[in-house]
Amino acid sequence: MTQDELKQAVAQAAADHVAEHLPVGAILGVGTGSTANLFIAALAPLKQRLGGAVASSEATRQRLEKLGIPVVDLNAVERLAIYVDGADEIDPGLCMIKGGGGALTREKIVAAVSDTFICIADASKRVPVLGRFPLPVEVIPMAVRQVSRELAALGGTPKLRQDFITDNGNCIIDVHGLHISDPVGLEARLNQIVGVVTNGLFAARGADLLLLGTPAGVQRFRRGAV
Ligand code: 5RP
Repeated sequence: MTQDELKQAVAQAAADHVAEHLPVGAILGVGTGSTANLFIAALAPLKQRLGGAVASSEATRQRLEKLGIPVVDLNAVERLAIYVDGADEIDPGLCMIKGGGGALTREKIVAAVSDTFICIADASKRVPVLGRFPLPVEVIPMAVRQVSRELAALGGTPKLRQDFITDNGNCIIDVHGLHISDPVGLEARLNQIVGVVTNGLFAARGADLLLLGTPAGVQRFRRGAV
């Protein structure tokens, strides 16, 4: 199976999960990226059942609206029962690196108000230790050099993502060469750097359920059960 076929399989599995578990009329949290895009397409048959969706990026908002799914401002929502999103890497504890698409800040906000975070990923995303994928860090533009120095002092190699501005008007620094044995600790440490808006470690609030696309079928992993 190709990587796209594996992504398609997990996208459909997530849509089936939503059909089974999300109450009719409830609002769904929807992530960003190529896997999330396949999930959005798989929502088409369910759109009458959804009360609407909260989008984790402008790109996702546009896709949802094109499909006829009303997009709801997160400030109008108390909690979300389910949030479905992809990841760049996910470890056995269901901690993730996210932000390859640059939507990490809004993704982390949506994850924070969600009861169940469902990660949809093809098998290539599952790793024993996070860090092979460069860790995205969203930074206030005037702080890029200052934050880069701090990131280098932590042992990484920071590279400013070229020609890229986030939905929030900020820059992304991708940090190469990290071996992240303590994702919760590093996430908290990076949050302390002045000028950092968000870092792409989703560890304090990781995924609750991983739907992993493998050639043998979609495998399910629950947080705390691995
Ligand atoms: C966007 C993300 C995506 O979830 C992540 O980059 C995975 O994307 P894809 O499904 O295209 O591999 O965090 O900010």
